[in-house]
Amino acid sequence: MSTFLQGPVGALTRIDGRTYDYFGGCGYLGLQSQPQVLQAAADAVLRYGLSTANSRGGLGESPLYTEMEETACAFFACEKVLTFASGYLGAAVLIQGEGQANDHFFIDADAHFSLWDAAAASNHAITPFAHCRPEALQVALQHELTAGERAVVLSDGLFPISGEVAPLPDYLEVLRNLPARLIVDDAHGAGVLGEHGRGTLEFWSITDERVSVSATFNKALGGFGGLVYGRRQALEHLERNSRVLAGSSPLPLPAAAAITQALRLLQVSPQLLQQLQANVRQARAGLEELGWQFPVAETPILCLPARGGLNLFRLREELFHRGIAVEFVNSYPSAPAGGAIRLAVFATHTPAQIERLLAAIRDVLRGQ
Ligand SMILES: Cc1ncc(COP(=O)(O)O)c(C=O)c1O
Repeated sequence: MSTFLQGPVGALTRIDGRTYDYFGGCGYLGLQSQPQVLQAAADAVLRYGLSTANSRGGLGESPLYTEMEETACAFFACEKVLTFASGYLGAAVLIQGEGQANDHFFIDADAHFSLWDAAAASNHAITPFAHCRPEALQVALQHELTAGERAVVLSDGLFPISGEVAPLPDYLEVLRNLPARLIVDDAHGAGVLGEHGRGTLEFWSITDERVSVSATFNKALGGFGGLVYGRRQALEHLERNSRVLAGSSPLPLPAAAAITQALRLLQVSPQLLQQLQANVRQARAGLEELGWQFPVAETPILCLPARGGLNLFRLREELFHRGIAVEFVNSYPSAPAGGAIRLAVFATHTPAQIERLLAAIRDVLRGQ
């Protein structure tokens, strides 16, 4: 089925001439179509144009980047933020920038493509370990890490399809007495996990200097582009050593302005995160009544794998007929074998929309 978006993506989204209750994608906070965010982007494009047509430094600097990075610093409560063209590049920025000749990568088997690609490009040894299993990491380290090597563990923070939060404290415990680092791709956690929505590190209260994190503005934060955040000294080291930062264009200027506005809104509107959490609880409770189970940590990604006799394609089609857009995913990192319906809960969904979704699924299950 081909689908064409005919308006901003949000809790209600226009697709092929019809308005749907929309539970797809990653705009968990609804910021990508928030009027003040759109206005900031529109004002910026008229005043500054689309891009600086230059890399950062020298003549490629813009006040919009400074403002965005200062606002992001305040949001993530860190000393420094570096931004670049896409979240996909985050792993490359960290791996290039922090790389040592003796690195040996230990990667969650279901980690995102960007982590695999960045590790592969480094030409160091790569050892996968079973998804979200600290004991498997421990065994892999015992068997594969050789004397003189540094272990670099790679994992998503919040997995994009399964909705699981990686057991990062357990990984750190496994790494306790080793020369080691942990690199986290927090594309889906940033903006939604933790008390202030700072992401998976805040969720687990991790402040360990061995941990580095990358994220994207393109999902919960409503914009576009990638970032790494952390301590000044560490990020200045990355700045000097990452070819990605030196050799790629920065974010589009309207995206930078939109991100600044989105982050400011988030800081003054904690109710957005609270509303998201309430919506997640409502959706999870209803789906649990229908027989699905979810990881303990509450996240806006709800994964409905196939189960006895349930045809997921049919479920998706039936929901579309009832005006509810959901996605079937089977070839993306962390999708279960056989695929799953992936539901994304937004802060901007109304309780009535979630109830409609639950009623529609109940109805389809009854008729199968
Ligand atoms: C886990 C994960 N990491 C990184 C990315 C890439 O981020 P971006 O779209 O900003 O390049 C994605 C998806 O887009 C993702 O799902």
